[in-house]
Amino acid sequence: MSIASHNQRIVDQFTRWAKPFSELPIHAESGAMTRTLEACALKSELDVLDVACGPGILACALAPHVRTVTGIDITAAMIEQARARQGKAGLQNLEWHIGDAVALPFETGSFDRVTTRYSFHHMPEPAAALAEMKRVCRPNGRIIVIDATPSPETQFAYDEMERLRDPSHASALTLDQLREIGREAGLGEVIIDAYRLEAQLETLAEASDMPALTTIFDADIASGEDRIGVAAWHSPTGIRFHFPISIIAWEPRSVGG
Ligand SMILES: C[S@@+](CC[C@H](N)C(=O)[O-])C[C@H]1O[C@@H](n2cnc3c(N)ncnc32)[C@H](O)[C@@H]1O
Repeated sequence: MSIASHNQRIVDQFTRWAKPFSELPIHAESGAMTRTLEACALKSELDVLDVACGPGILACALAPHVRTVTGIDITAAMIEQARARQGKAGLQNLEWHIGDAVALPFETGSFDRVTTRYSFHHMPEPAAALAEMKRVCRPNGRIIVIDATPSPETQFAYDEMERLRDPSHASALTLDQLREIGREAGLGEVIIDAYRLEAQLETLAEASDMPALTTIFDADIASGEDRIGVAAWHSPTGIRFHFPISIIAWEPRSVGG
């Protein structure tokens, strides 16, 4: 599939999901948000860009701590949700753009912090997005990526499961793969952190995917082998599991320099 077709699939998917996505409590989970904000090392004089900002959950959480936050996303319906969230929160220091992470419409060195959360696994070219994030980041700034990072042993099964749940899933990088694209971009690591995000399958999946997904999860739980790497279990309310999330923060300096 071409990149243009994949991006159209993303826009279609997140146009349908924009409202439910923005309302799901899991996306604003406070423990995860605290760790994310800590990794950003925020200060009141900073300008922040949140790439693939979706409905502005992270951007609006960042805004009270910094001078400005700019959010950009390829899906217009997500930006509508972001504007609504900003309005409800009464925040003034945000602006929103519709655009592609691999061609950011900003001058080189425009931001002190450049973040992206839960987005790289949708992108056919995450290294190209990271290079753009580096370009728009000031030399003394910081780039922070938060995403699911399956282990090398579970990556294939994890991607298969995720593509059934969400056809716009490309591939989740392992932590080593994520670190490697940072090294290749000439970034210096400053923080690696991790958290597990507990989810309920039925609240995250589109109904048409449910029979196949349930079969995969049932088999994984019955095997006791955790082949998908999400430690799934049957709870009284349905199938539950944990997304394995990593936070990685880099500085845009050469690794050796
Ligand atoms: C799972 S949502 C995450 C939203 C938000 N970052 C959050 O953490 O709540 C993924 C988002 O990535 C956006 N996205 C995917 N590929 C993109 C690209 N190439 N450029 C900009 N946005 C993209 C989608 O439109 C969607 O809003």
